[in-house]
Amino acid sequence: PLVSMKDMLNKALEEKYAVGQFNINNLEWTQAILAAAEQEKSPVILGVSEGAARHMGGFKTTVMMVQGLLEDMKITVPVAIHLDHGSSFDKCKEAIEAGFTSVMIDASHHPIEENIETTKKVVEFAHARNVSVEAEVGTVGGQEDDVIADGVVYADPQECEQLVKETNVDCFAPALGSVHGPYKGEPDLGYKEMEEVRDLTQKPLVLHGGTGIPTKDIQKAISLGTSKINVNTENQIVFTKAVRDVLNNDSEVYDPRKFMVPGREAIKETVIGKIREFGSNGKA
Ligand code: G3H
Ligand code: ZN
Repeated sequence: PLVSMKDMLNKALEEKYAVGQFNINNLEWTQAILAAAEQEKSPVILGVSEGAARHMGGFKTTVMMVQGLLEDMKITVPVAIHLDHGSSFDKCKEAIEAGFTSVMIDASHHPIEENIETTKKVVEFAHARNVSVEAEVGTVGGQEDDVIADGVVYADPQECEQLVKETNVDCFAPALGSVHGPYKGEPDLGYKEMEEVRDLTQKPLVLHGGTGIPTKDIQKAISLGTSKINVNTENQIVFTKAVRDVLNNDSEVYDPRKFMVPGREAIKETVIGKIREFGSNGKA
């Protein structure tokens, strides 16, 4: 069933595992992630960037596709459909009105007071409709769709505390050295700050840029209150590789299902691996 992230993340924080947010791009992506979660008996968050929503036709099409799959695939695990890096109050409102059960308002590039103001407005609108809200402080490095950073800025724990207390968000992403897309070298996550932010906010923490983070860092982050981990690029890489393999090996192929199905399988296997690494298997 479609639910908000609130209960699934509070339970994850309490029981020390993380729920994966896997971003979707199309039908096959969504099928793969839902199949993996159902097979592993894991809660799951379908992340939808504004760019991906545009690609799929819009917020409404995205919600209807997910709802259709939940029925046709007889999905029993909790599923949240979450706007990833929402750029404004209006975008969050639009997604919620289309049926999203969760939104991220990413006003992290604005001064903290403005970030808090915008986040507050989103929380007010969302909570009245049982929709959960994620906010961010600091800057995640790299690039994802329309979200482009020209460097990494570690979140200030005091600002994190202030934002969480004043806005009552359901979960919170302190940028602490993670990067969207592949890492150049090993990630350098700010564990000291993570611990501080956990103690100051007592909220489930979110780790963006999940692609390319070694298992030991994932485990450490979870032990310090990280309850949601976002993965996007890794699924893009395995999908594209599987499709490319088919096309490179067979110049006659023209039925799209012949290359989409191996791509879908590759995503499913990757998501199963992540679910087990994050420890959310069997937690539905
Ligand atoms: O918001 C989505 C993520 O933070 C994904 O990051 O593409 O590096 O896995 P990634
Ligand atoms: Zn992100």
